[in-house]
Amino acid sequence: MSTFNQQNILITGGASGIGKIMGRIALEKGARNLVIWDIDQEAMNRTAKEFAHLGQVTTQKVDVSQLDEIKIACLELEKENLQINILINNAGIIVGGNFWQNSHEKIQKTMAINTAALMHLTREILPGMMDRKQGHIVNISSAASLVANPKMSVYAASKWAVTAWSESLRLELEAVGSPVNVTTVTPSYISTGMFEGVKTHWIQPILEPEKTAQRIIRAVEKDKIIIRMPWSVYMTPFLKGLLPIRWFDLVVGKWLKVYKSMDEFRGKKIL
Ligand SMILES: NC(=O)c1ccc[n+]([C@@H]2O[C@H](COP(=O)([O-])OP(=O)(O)OC[C@H]3O[C@@H](n4cnc5c(N)ncnc54)[C@H](O)[C@@H]3O)[C@@H](O)[C@H]2O)c1
Repeated sequence: MSTFNQQNILITGGASGIGKIMGRIALEKGARNLVIWDIDQEAMNRTAKEFAHLGQVTTQKVDVSQLDEIKIACLELEKENLQINILINNAGIIVGGNFWQNSHEKIQKTMAINTAALMHLTREILPGMMDRKQGHIVNISSAASLVANPKMSVYAASKWAVTAWSESLRLELEAVGSPVNVTTVTPSYISTGMFEGVKTHWIQPILEPEKTAQRIIRAVEKDKIIIRMPWSVYMTPFLKGLLPIRWFDLVVGKWLKVYKSMDEFRGKKIL
């Protein structure tokens, strides 16, 4: 029986991209209630309608960059007696361009949505999971948390913080013997539109959203600690540890074209 069977799942940014697909898969695997948080009300309405035949879908319009909105939405869940068993911290944004081209507003927004929101929401949901001695926190970070990359400095910083926090949280829970699991996900580029325009070497193929979502859900079912996609992302920490930084710049940055991948980035309009 799947880990998702009869569970209540909360997915932030669940109205599009891999968040939406993971929600669908969770329902197909027997989830009792899929709770979607997003800022895009229309996309949430469409998703709820599309998934209605699969099971119970609850939508809440929440801007995860706002702590008060997170707290209010959690209180609403409590009032509905909806205890979250699996939390997928997925909402994220990217602002590209060289660092000095980013406004203060974009820097603050990126750090609030991509980093702080995961901690605030987990801070709300985790105590209940610990009391019930059951639960799973899934943090969608990025391969950008493993390698520096020009034209995404703020995004990379926000994701490095997620990976560091998520792994630390796992260790803390293990240290106190809590059965609550933490999975950290670090995929490379996925063709959801978020990174529209990026170019990659064949060694770092752009991931398909459906396959990526399926792999994440399977990793949760297997209580995996960390998941990196595609396979070449597993080499990154190894090469970083092994090569002097100028050699790493040459091999990964220049030969494997990682440092040029954002040159034609267009992305999505977000602010
Ligand atoms: N697409 C990629 O190449 C890629 C690669 C690695 C990691 N990721 C990560 O995967 C996650 C999902 O990305 P995706 O590609 O599916 O993107 P997406 O843009 O398709 O989905 C992101 C969702 O988050 C929602 N969102 C944005 N700001 C929000 C806010 N303030 N409050 C609530 N919801 C908000 C959006 O409305 C959208 O529905 C992100 O965390 C992203 O950083 C994506």
